[in-house]
Amino acid sequence: MHSFRYRGGKLYCEDVDLARVAEKFGTPLYVYSAGTILDHYRRLDAALAPLQHLICYAAKANSNRAILKLLADAGAGFDIVSAGELFRVLAAGGDPAKCTFAGVGKSGEEIEYALDQRVYSFNVESEAELEYIDKIAGAKNLRAPVALRANPDIDPHTHEYISTGSRENKFGIALGQLPAVYERAAKMRNIDIVGVQMHIGSQITEAAPFADAVTKVAPIVRDLKTKYGIKFFSIGGGLGIVYESSFESGVKEWWSVGRDRRARRGTMPLSIQQYVDAILSALGGLHNLKLRILLEPGRLLVGNAGVLLTRVRYIKHTGEKKFAIVDAGMNDLIRPALYHSYHEIVPAQEPICRASAAADPKPLEKIDIVGPVCESGDFFALDREMPEICEGDLLAIMSAGAYGFVMASNYNSRPLPAEALVSGDKFALIRERQAWEDLIRGEIDLQF
Ligand code: LLP
Repeated sequence: MHSFRYRGGKLYCEDVDLARVAEKFGTPLYVYSAGTILDHYRRLDAALAPLQHLICYAAKANSNRAILKLLADAGAGFDIVSAGELFRVLAAGGDPAKCTFAGVGKSGEEIEYALDQRVYSFNVESEAELEYIDKIAGAKNLRAPVALRANPDIDPHTHEYISTGSRENKFGIALGQLPAVYERAAKMRNIDIVGVQMHIGSQITEAAPFADAVTKVAPIVRDLKTKYGIKFFSIGGGLGIVYESSFESGVKEWWSVGRDRRARRGTMPLSIQQYVDAILSALGGLHNLKLRILLEPGRLLVGNAGVLLTRVRYIKHTGEKKFAIVDAGMNDLIRPALYHSYHEIVPAQEPICRASAAADPKPLEKIDIVGPVCESGDFFALDREMPEICEGDLLAIMSAGAYGFVMASNYNSRPLPAEALVSGDKFALIRERQAWEDLIRGEIDLQF
């Protein structure tokens, strides 16, 4: 569920007309719904009620401090992958004792910082990293809380770039090697074994890969509980969201055409409850052994809670095609270019209203919606059936709350976009748009 709806022909986020937000802060602009994020968090938390659990929001999905603060205030922990993310979480008032530090290549400086801040756990991905953490903790006279990341060798049926739990991936430790690495860890002087972790991939839309992975790892977890008294089992993140019918607009003609098309593609969501039920039955009572179950959702909490607003600069007809050239580019939202991912795109002004003078709305037309960046990969939609789009129109690229701004860059020397947060009928800027001066800040005139 999310809070983007047409009201009186205008696209609203909660109780705010998005056109007003775009006028005030300009475009391209990310807009997030606080209510949607909290709703997702609370629904997951409620579904997990039968378990002793902790939701560690994967900060990488959207790490704006205002978003982190919302979740910290709601009681969330955080899954972090860099010292920078830990710094942000602390700046947002997050509790380091609810932070797990993941990642295959932690630096010495990062490990020191996380030790000093007393994170809940280091999720360790190799023996080499384990040795390094032991050494650094020893030098500080501290003990490092550690969970090893298991690689269960499961195909999560997702895009190959975001599949992480199969044996070809760089992540985790193979199940066959895991007991031996735990034995080594147990002998290290400055390591406390506190848990076991896994994460099989992202944007997973079936329950089976999660259930299979838990089923495979569960006997090892049981063993580790007996041997080392581990405190937690983290199942990772990865629950997918619906990108292709993320939007509900009543029964407008242009929309219902899209709905038929989406139904044929058959990507229906896996609900939070189905996901939790699958995990619960795969755990097979494991959670009754005084074991805290951790989840690390990112996309699920924020993905459908954000849109990227962009304005159409030019309409261009070539012999072959019609293009809408918008003011957002692949530098602002790289997902379509990088993963060929689908994002719903809807006009801020509902098409049927514009056509209200005519008896019938205009038919849908195929159009490429592209950015201004000098690459042919700079597109948001190709041959997309859309209502008529005109120069100056405001469009919303849906489901852009996760892996949107955080993956933005200054490519083509384009300033980073602004971000705004809506809550009820209020909205506020949570990140300023970069200025041109920001583009050269930090660059140094050559001294020789
Ligand atoms: N835990 C770990 C260890 C992870 O590596 C990730 C995501 C998560 C949790 C959160 O996964 P989620 O619940 O958001 O699926 N840029 C890509 C997604 C990369 C995900 C990387 N790891 C995209 O735009 O689809």
